[in-house]
Amino acid sequence: MVRVGFIGWRGMVGSVLIERMLAEKDFTGFEPVFFTTSQAGQAAPRIGIPVPPLQDAHDLDALAKFDILVSCQGGDYTTEVYDKLRNRGFKGFWIDAASTLRMRDSSVIVLDPVNRDVIDAALAGGIKDYIGGNCTVSLMLMALAGLFRRKLVEWVSSMTYQAASGAGAKNMIELVAQMAHLSAATSGPLRSGASALELDRIITDQLRNGTMPTDIFGAPLAASLIPWIDKPMENGQTREEWKGQVEANKILGTRQTIPIDGVCVRVSSMRCHSQGLTIKLTRDVPLDEITAMISSDHEWAKVVPNAKEATLNELTPAAVSGKLSVPVGRLRKMTLGPTYLAAFTVGDQLLWGAAEPVRRMLRIALEHLSKD
Ligand code: HSE
Repeated sequence: MVRVGFIGWRGMVGSVLIERMLAEKDFTGFEPVFFTTSQAGQAAPRIGIPVPPLQDAHDLDALAKFDILVSCQGGDYTTEVYDKLRNRGFKGFWIDAASTLRMRDSSVIVLDPVNRDVIDAALAGGIKDYIGGNCTVSLMLMALAGLFRRKLVEWVSSMTYQAASGAGAKNMIELVAQMAHLSAATSGPLRSGASALELDRIITDQLRNGTMPTDIFGAPLAASLIPWIDKPMENGQTREEWKGQVEANKILGTRQTIPIDGVCVRVSSMRCHSQGLTIKLTRDVPLDEITAMISSDHEWAKVVPNAKEATLNELTPAAVSGKLSVPVGRLRKMTLGPTYLAAFTVGDQLLWGAAEPVRRMLRIALEHLSKD
């Protein structure tokens, strides 16, 4: 039986992966083994079938024997272990949520509703490394697959509104702590009927007086935003902004690069990334055809009518959190001209942005091995 090792199943992305695998009854047809970087010998997670105790995630000889390894352990682990493991003779599939190997020629970035053709060609060509994409990129491509597939996109400018979860679990906790801090400062005045300007003075004072918990983000996020994500690049982009073009084009397997750029901004939603998109179309296509192309491309893309009630009910992080659907709304031709399309999209960063492409790639790899 095919043996699959899971590394990093306890963190945020790993937990969502296991949750999704349990929900989809994925733990069949292979032998799962769970690895740990710190608790070897302890009990593995309960997945409804017997599994051996946790194994040591630094035991390269043990890892090298697996047919498939799935890692949500993070980039530092991949950097530390991956090359040594291949040198040790590991010939199996490496499926990883971390960015470390994404841009290597020997890897494919997986988002199968969008690039199943690229994945299938790679499997046929003997590629063994399948890596989940950057969440913002994956969610943008899930939203616009119907347009990219028809080669209707000349370029995209994406202004993002990225959730705390994209930065990590500690960031989510700090965001809630910041909210609690502001709540503590305002709940009394709110109860006694303070005016909007009085409340604003209290909030602004809290944002600036150095008492808010900001160790993780480096600045207040609640009642504010942070227009900087990841490290600086030499050209003035942040690394998150740089990923937009390079990863999207790699996922799509484009011959000629489609320019994609924008400003990436952290906002105070918990786990949904949103994006305001300006899309330059290669030709003038009527809006009803665009709507049909987007919503019929795959089962998760959904067009929300460009109307207030539908937008408030269906096109917000509050509405989308925890769901697999990727709504696209505010669709309209811009005043800039008939080939300029405005759109807004929201997606759960931990699902299609992280765990789901990895979960589905495991199914695809298992199917591939069963045909051998
Ligand atoms: N880098 C993304 C973010 C999440 O900071 O929101 C991971 O793809």
